[in-house]
Amino acid sequence: MDPIILAIESSCDETSTSIIRKGKILNNIVATQSVHENYGGVVPELASRAHQQNIVPVVSQALEQAGLNKSDLSAVAYTKGPGLLGALLVGASFAKSMAYALDIPLIGVHHMKAHILAHFIEEPRPAFPFLCLTVSGGHTQIVRVNSPLEMEVIGTTKDDAVGEAFDKTAKMLGLPYPGGPLVDRYAQNGDGERFEFPLSEMPGLSYSFSGIKTAVLYFLRAEVAKDPDFIEKNIQDICASVQFTLVKMLLQKLKKASKQTGIKEIAIAGGVSANSGLRSALEAHKEKFRWNVYVPAFEYCTDNAAMIAMAAHFLYEKEIFEDIESSAEARLPF
Ligand code: KG4
Ligand code: ZN
Repeated sequence: MDPIILAIESSCDETSTSIIRKGKILNNIVATQSVHENYGGVVPELASRAHQQNIVPVVSQALEQAGLNKSDLSAVAYTKGPGLLGALLVGASFAKSMAYALDIPLIGVHHMKAHILAHFIEEPRPAFPFLCLTVSGGHTQIVRVNSPLEMEVIGTTKDDAVGEAFDKTAKMLGLPYPGGPLVDRYAQNGDGERFEFPLSEMPGLSYSFSGIKTAVLYFLRAEVAKDPDFIEKNIQDICASVQFTLVKMLLQKLKKASKQTGIKEIAIAGGVSANSGLRSALEAHKEKFRWNVYVPAFEYCTDNAAMIAMAAHFLYEKEIFEDIESSAEARLPF
């Protein structure tokens, strides 16, 4: 019988479900929580409450859409961490109850590893070993991926994640949360070399994004003091210049990692991999460095349960299951 796995993602502000059958994704349902927009960031308590409201409908929808019954499932997978504990617990409790009631295996998935394994949902798939620049709201990592279940972080940020740098820039510009996609949109019509922001000088393959955040803050304060309409008049060039600097920093270390490891299979994953500046910079480097570049479809860049289902498929193959007593972990180690 073909294994059929239901996956649940609830680590942050998207309640998502997906069903995978014999390694093929059948659907990917995402209920986005708009409640956080008014608060300038995700409010953990509101996220948990919204997950509680959404979880039953999104699970039913996934089963209905696939034309399946609960009794057809071979396993239930959930995001074990990292993420907001209260949010993770909603998915974890639901998955555990369902696995227990149906007497089928429970699979716990690492959210960041799942972002990377999203590359196996569709063709073209990277060849092993490959390097994956994993960039989200909470992480910035360069990962050496030796096999679906064997990954090693070779570079990481010492402070903020790059997604945070995008979101905080947006907040300083008065844009709503999550601001990353808006900065990207304005940047597309701006001049990225008009304003200069400092590149961080971190050793090895380490990143740092707290310096640029402070630099943008001081820059805006000084300019707004001279002209109160500065932001409004220059928002496209400001966004383009910040994005240009962030992308340059991301690429610098990725090039270094490729040189050090000799690996030319290069992938990106996580929410920030939706960024158009990062995507075109990678395209440009492709020729020059003879890289094979892998960029996931937009649907699989930001948080989604299809990537959790894909990761669960590999864990199911190796029969790596969770104990029913286990639970979510906000700081689940990589
Ligand atoms: O992976 P993700 O959906 O959630 C986490 O696991 O954190 O990533 C969310 C992050 C946010 O910081 C969001 O602003 C950023 O990804 N993001 C973008 C873009 N789309 C999403 N940042 C820049 N440009 C984008 N187009
Ligand atoms: Zn994520």
